[in-house]
Amino acid sequence: MKIGEKEMKKISVIVLALLMSVMVFSGCSSQDKASSGSDSASEASVQEVSGQSADSVSGEAASAAESVAESGSSESAAAGNSTILVAYFTRIGNTDGGFPEGVDAVTSASIQTTDGGYKGNAQMIAEVLSDETGGDLFAIESEEIYPADYDATVNKAKQDQNDGIRPALTTHVENMDSYDTVIIAFPNWWGDLPMPVYSFFDEYDLAGKNIKVYVTHEGSGFSDTVDTIKELEPQADVTEGLAVRGGEAADSEAEIRESI
Ligand SMILES: Cc1cc2nc3c(=O)[nH]c(=O)nc-3n(C[C@H](O)[C@H](O)[C@H](O)COP(=O)(O)O)c2cc1C
Repeated sequence: MKIGEKEMKKISVIVLALLMSVMVFSGCSSQDKASSGSDSASEASVQEVSGQSADSVSGEAASAAESVAESGSSESAAAGNSTILVAYFTRIGNTDGGFPEGVDAVTSASIQTTDGGYKGNAQMIAEVLSDETGGDLFAIESEEIYPADYDATVNKAKQDQNDGIRPALTTHVENMDSYDTVIIAFPNWWGDLPMPVYSFFDEYDLAGKNIKVYVTHEGSGFSDTVDTIKELEPQADVTEGLAVRGGEAADSEAEIRESI
């Protein structure tokens, strides 16, 4: 069958139209991909930024604490513009040589496992509170470090408590006057404040400030810690924040945020 000039023209118009629609379609879908790609890229960067901020806050506090500890200087580890200080003491930041890889989660009930390694319960609570309030995060670090072994720490803490040890701190808040509220988070140790937290209250006169207390524990709750802090800081307005079981700390974020 012979195809005439007219038919040839028709066919080439159809082919051209088909070609164009294929090009338009593929252009669209690649644009879609590009935009969904950029969406997920921006999601990823948001996650990265928020992950970074959470980690970098504790990382910065920790490295500031480290450099302060190393240099022995009294430089402040918290340096923001907030009138709220969120101070915390946690076992993990005060452990001899850190924790070995794959540390047993049962014997180390006080540890939260995160992507970046381990995090203390009180630290986790403090980070949530700092995020919620915009308060400056401050890690109380002690010259007196504790063994990685849980039972050894428990025994040492008891001994230190009996001996009334007040370990020197390696991190210090130079601008305490600029804060009107001090939120403090720490673990219940033998129904009491850990000794470095006594040292913290010994170091600062918090008269006229609000102190809000957060305790993490494995059954004892606040014990007498709030009353003890009232005795240590008689001119401050000391109130209960929240007592959070260590094992439930990771699931208590909403409750922690609401409590402030
Ligand atoms: C030395 C020591 C003593 C403790 N004493 C108590 C206690 O008397 N009552 C209690 O409920 N939990 C006690 N615990 C458990 C911790 O309070 C609990 O695991 C807490 O979540 C640890 O927080 P952290 O990860 O910030 O150190 C003790 C833990 C340690 C290491």
